[in-house]
Amino acid sequence: MTMLWAGRFAKELDSIVADFNSSIKFDSRMIEQDIIGSLAHASMLGETGIISMLDQSKITSGLSDILLDIKSGKLAIDYTQEDIHTFVENELIKRIGDAGKKLHTARSRNDQVALDLRLTLKQDIKAIYQKVKYLLSELVELAKEYTTTIMPGYTHLQRAQPTTFAHHLMAYSSMFIRDIERLKDCYKRTDVLPLGSCAFAGTTYPIDRSLVAQKLNFEQIAFNSMDAVSDRDFVIELNSCLSIIMMHLSRFCEEIILWSSWEFKFIELDDGYATGSSIMPQKKNADIAELVRGKTGRVYGNLMAILTVMKGLPLAYNKDMQEDKECVFDSVKTVSACLTVFAPMLCSIKVNKEAMAKAAERGFINATDVADYLTKKGMPFRDAYKITGQIVAYCIEKNYTLNNLPIESYKSFSQLFASDLYEAIDMKTCVEKRNSFGATSKSSVLEQIKIVKDFLDKMV
Ligand code: ARG
Repeated sequence: MTMLWAGRFAKELDSIVADFNSSIKFDSRMIEQDIIGSLAHASMLGETGIISMLDQSKITSGLSDILLDIKSGKLAIDYTQEDIHTFVENELIKRIGDAGKKLHTARSRNDQVALDLRLTLKQDIKAIYQKVKYLLSELVELAKEYTTTIMPGYTHLQRAQPTTFAHHLMAYSSMFIRDIERLKDCYKRTDVLPLGSCAFAGTTYPIDRSLVAQKLNFEQIAFNSMDAVSDRDFVIELNSCLSIIMMHLSRFCEEIILWSSWEFKFIELDDGYATGSSIMPQKKNADIAELVRGKTGRVYGNLMAILTVMKGLPLAYNKDMQEDKECVFDSVKTVSACLTVFAPMLCSIKVNKEAMAKAAERGFINATDVADYLTKKGMPFRDAYKITGQIVAYCIEKNYTLNNLPIESYKSFSQLFASDLYEAIDMKTCVEKRNSFGATSKSSVLEQIKIVKDFLDKMV
């Protein structure tokens, strides 16, 4: 195999070393972006007179043919080549001869690979963005159905205060909105043209970077050529956005797994999204949710990998940076697959309202409301809190709930208690009276749903 850089060397690369050095097995994913980038570069070279119009048109038709042949399967990628850039250039030269050798004028693989990666990740970000958007819209539809479905809310995984299933689901809608905004932001910083930076120092040729930016639809042009070929922040940033998405999905999955256990029985997964056991006939396992939770580790690992690769690199390009692609491509693929299965899995759950209501009745989750009742009758909150704690202890000992403890017993703790207490600490009242902005009441949750729907309507 003759390398692009063969002139300086007396001997060919050892085949094992060539294989070790090669990136084509994973950068071939960028073949279309590589060709599109080269088409823009060539037409700039022609328009600025750096190469002749004739050479430019030969390059353009040669590259276009290569793209067509790759798409139709007529041309197979040669995986013995060093990378996808080399493959395309060699193929072009094979097809059009000397004109093909002019394509790399005023360009280096350093700015070429940065360009290809940015073009690829811009598309990937858009695709993930659409998937999170879809999940968010499905989530809101689901939440709408459960605005009066009371369940216990938890802190420390201990029953804490009553809430509704819709309120709980809508918590995740806030997270997904932030995920979408992070992706949008990350896109902005990915949408910067590195081409024209060449090896790192720019070029003596009269190139027109604005023209290339225009042709390739880049919003900005990297203003320092050394940074442009050294920077992989955009890869780190996307890996970080993807890690946060996975963290959210993973927490959601953890709850789905808990809720579908016999201990909770709040939901039942659709048969299409659960699996059985090879030995225990009764089992219905939440494997899909567990896998999404598990794959989170892999995506975090990819973030750690690229952070670590970059941490000690001197400017400008170093071959270490070839390690940037596999980790981010793997994360994109993983997150995309997780989002694809997660949304329909979530939307097909069967909700067990009775189990949720029953769980809400046990666990003294309206104790805060007993304390608030006394506070509203004039007792300082700290005193009310203490008395309520004593009442809870009494109920546990005598096997009462706060709702069925007789009023005489209440009065023995404080004369402020009267029969209107039961209405005040009824679960429905507890939820409905929490009507502050962002809270659990139906009207508060409907407001949240409206906010998310407005957000979705404004999304492109
Ligand atoms: N395959 C290389 C990569 O992915 C392309 C850039 C090569 N540049 C170089 N100076 N060797 O980073």
